[in-house]
Amino acid sequence: MSGHAAPIPMTARRSGPLTGTAEVPGDKSISHRALILGALSVGETVVTGLLEGQDVLDTASAMRAFGAEVVRHGEGHWTVNGVGVGGFAEPLDIIDCGNSGTGVRLIMGCMATTPMTVTFTGDASLRKRPMARVTDPLSLFGTKAYGRSGGRLPMTVVGAADPVPVRYRVPVPSAQVKSAVLLAGLNAPGETVVIEAEPTRDHSERMLKGFGADLHVEDTAEGRVITLVGQPELRAQTVAVPRDPSSAAFPVCAALIVENSDILVPGVSQNLTRNGLYTTLVEMGADIEFGNPREEGGEPVADLRVRFSALTGIEVPAERAASMIDEFPVLSVVAAFAEGTTIMRGVKELRVKESDRIDAMARGLEACGVRIEEDEDTLIVHGMGPGGVPGGATCATHIDHRIAMSFLVLGLASRKPVRVDDASPIATSFPAFETLMADLGARIERSN
Ligand code: S3P
Repeated sequence: MSGHAAPIPMTARRSGPLTGTAEVPGDKSISHRALILGALSVGETVVTGLLEGQDVLDTASAMRAFGAEVVRHGEGHWTVNGVGVGGFAEPLDIIDCGNSGTGVRLIMGCMATTPMTVTFTGDASLRKRPMARVTDPLSLFGTKAYGRSGGRLPMTVVGAADPVPVRYRVPVPSAQVKSAVLLAGLNAPGETVVIEAEPTRDHSERMLKGFGADLHVEDTAEGRVITLVGQPELRAQTVAVPRDPSSAAFPVCAALIVENSDILVPGVSQNLTRNGLYTTLVEMGADIEFGNPREEGGEPVADLRVRFSALTGIEVPAERAASMIDEFPVLSVVAAFAEGTTIMRGVKELRVKESDRIDAMARGLEACGVRIEEDEDTLIVHGMGPGGVPGGATCATHIDHRIAMSFLVLGLASRKPVRVDDASPIATSFPAFETLMADLGARIERSN
């Protein structure tokens, strides 16, 4: 929803040990895709563990507007009766994707090769974000898009009546762009090929195969080559959504920096295209056990046991950035409590997320007494050691859920409390954050 609710300021205070079990919500990326592929399938898709954050609820509303029947039966338990590939009806009204870049870009992809005219919008954060990265490749299918200057929302997209298949090399590491092209390729005849130089999250490829698409992936010298045969009949599936490693990052990182903490975070996806943060934390000296590794819903998962740890700054290589792109804000918080310097390279995509996350983290960390260096593509945090971060500031969250949660985690271990000006965006991805953290013993309160 694009209307931004009244701001909810929150304050986090230095807390005693965090203990107990943190059952984090379903994976956001997989939740969006389950609803979209369910809508493009024939029959009834059953989804369990769906994230009921606002981003995903907005995608559910969008799928209804395109003609799918989307029904909630209980917590995380949804069904989608789809209309089949090419079966979308033209929505009667504007599609409002709220705060969600994933929602709007994937939905643009899946209507781009069906003859219809659709206008998209979003909240003040989404209206600032670049859409040309998606509409440029979609134009190769024959799709037209008319947006504000700089390719911004609101934007009207006219689906191609006679789409042609496309071969496209993704110029930025982006799973959203890759997925938009693959979803558009579903309703184009022939083979659509997407090439990515750096691997990004592979949920679309896994799930398209699961729904019966003819898709194969080849690792070549030019990168990952994904070939999709168009106009398949997708068949409804049962999707068990694993818990989100990006949401798990907040209690995990909080436990690492709050003295004597010891928590369990069960059933967290360990998909290799998503687990860069966990690799990085272990390299920094984090005490994390990955128990009971298994498969759930076609994804590798594990139960994490996390204890307070003495951490050391490291250099995070640019090649790892795509596998932890949403976790750099909270890593920069952990880095502030490490001994030594943490250098994060290859992070320029952070500048076009829900906010400019390099700038948002740098300004807030500086206000809390942490020394930062940054350039277009790099963020450097000079660690102050356990208990060394002064805190005592209000940090601006810029309508960005991950910035809000990161600074609240910071305040749990800094000397003075940390306030965020607006925690309301947390509801886009992690509606239970406040209660889950309180149950672990975190002192986070709504403030003025
Ligand atoms: C996502 C891809 C990433 C990520 C976002 C979710 C997805 O965005 O930051 O939170 O589900 O495909 P980019 O494709 O812009 O890297």
